[in-house]
Amino acid sequence: MKHFLTLILTLSVVALFAQPANRIVANPEYSKNIISKHIYGHFSEHLGHCIYGGYFVDEGSTIPNTRRIRTDIVDALKKIKIPNLRWPGGCFADEYHWNDGIGLRSERPKMVNTNWGGVTEDNSFGTHEFLDLCEMLGTEPYICGNVGSGTVAEMSKWVEYLNFDGVSPMADLRKKNGHDKPWKVRFWGVGNENWGCGGSMTAEFYADQYRRYATYARNYGDAKLMKIAGGANSGDYHWTETLMKNVPLNMMWGISLHYYTIPKTWASKGSATAFGEDEYFSAMKSCLHMEELVSRHSAVMDQYDPEKRVALAVDEWGIWTDVEPGTNPGFLFQQNSLRDALIAASTLNIFNNHSDRVRMSNLAQTVNVLQALILTDKEKMLLTPTYHIYDLYQVHQEATLIPLVLRTKDYVLGNDKLPALNASASRDKDGNIHISVVNIDPTNAQDLQIDIAGTQALKASAQILTSEKYTDHNTFEKPNALKPAPFAGTKKSGESISLKVPAKSVVMITLAK
Ligand code: AHR
Repeated sequence: MKHFLTLILTLSVVALFAQPANRIVANPEYSKNIISKHIYGHFSEHLGHCIYGGYFVDEGSTIPNTRRIRTDIVDALKKIKIPNLRWPGGCFADEYHWNDGIGLRSERPKMVNTNWGGVTEDNSFGTHEFLDLCEMLGTEPYICGNVGSGTVAEMSKWVEYLNFDGVSPMADLRKKNGHDKPWKVRFWGVGNENWGCGGSMTAEFYADQYRRYATYARNYGDAKLMKIAGGANSGDYHWTETLMKNVPLNMMWGISLHYYTIPKTWASKGSATAFGEDEYFSAMKSCLHMEELVSRHSAVMDQYDPEKRVALAVDEWGIWTDVEPGTNPGFLFQQNSLRDALIAASTLNIFNNHSDRVRMSNLAQTVNVLQALILTDKEKMLLTPTYHIYDLYQVHQEATLIPLVLRTKDYVLGNDKLPALNASASRDKDGNIHISVVNIDPTNAQDLQIDIAGTQALKASAQILTSEKYTDHNTFEKPNALKPAPFAGTKKSGESISLKVPAKSVVMITLAK
């Protein structure tokens, strides 16, 4: 008996050590839901140089543009197929009066942008300009209405102006302003951060306001609104529960969630490019907290909506650091390093893996603000490492999620640790499989074995985004310092792929015929 037990113990230990420490196992037979392309959405607010000095150039500018919308930005964003664009805010949305941004530009009233630097907003970029931009990008508009300081009638009329195809005061005004046909905008935000800059409301008060505003935001013809309730601030589960309890499910397409990765503290967030490993680690920890937030908000929603009819729309997220030295603190202009690319890739993996409930997300913000895809300096433009993640990850849009079982070593710093690897996988409509793997460990490469059933006949190829230091970033002098490169390190044998995932890297593996 004693010998038998020793044998069993020895075999178990041998079996454990024979298993690679980092392993992904998947079976496409168990493929789940479609990963909505709207997870890959973006957000552009009237803030700093996102719109003015970003997308929208001055009258008569020599920077190539069409109707003042910058050509190089449009071309870059078209390449990554952005599925939707949220506008005009953010906090700006709840002070914005859409009626001031239509008609002859010279007659548009001006306003103070109280949230962002107290600058004068001349309303030269308004509804028509935004929808012109969306048409150029081939993206769906996601407009956020004003609940905080607006009225039910104002929001109701904006929808009529945008979507009614007939004779009515607002449709006639739209035609007078040069747009005969309605735009048929579908995504509609009913306020923004109504617990804070959007009116400092309680969850209970907002739930009632939502019902009023949503009632009069009408469907016109086939333009059925997909209304999104202003959701919780990070871990405020009471807010989500109150909305789920008090708003009929058929009145909401989605509930939003806002969460930002903060490397240090809200008062002193830390530099975008000058930081050590402590701050690198704490930023990654803050980023990976998204997993818990999404799981717990989804669990609250499951209690009221087990069929998952209401989407969780994480319509603001990303890393928020101190502004670049010497820039206006109200403009939120920050550089973008390899760390930010790892944050984007890890967060998108989380969203993909929760895509049964997370059906929209919007990175804050597209140009020159927070975790931007694009930075500009007058006529110069650069694509950030975060942009390149969206480029690599576009293969997941509308693909079928393949659930993964992942075992990973830890990335250890001092007494704390995080999972070194994270990943997600999908199968596209042509049957190709895409696996995005992130190694956040800044020092150690990770040997990884991936086993995916039924993939014997497919060939593996891969691309990588990495750099020598996690603080590395693209500059206007060296705009292509960081960009994806082919990765020759994958070996395929039968259904198994083995690779060494380099430290601080994102590897996108493709299995195709
Ligand atoms: O994205 C910047 C700001 O962050 C938004 O205006 C607001 O909604 C959030 O607090």
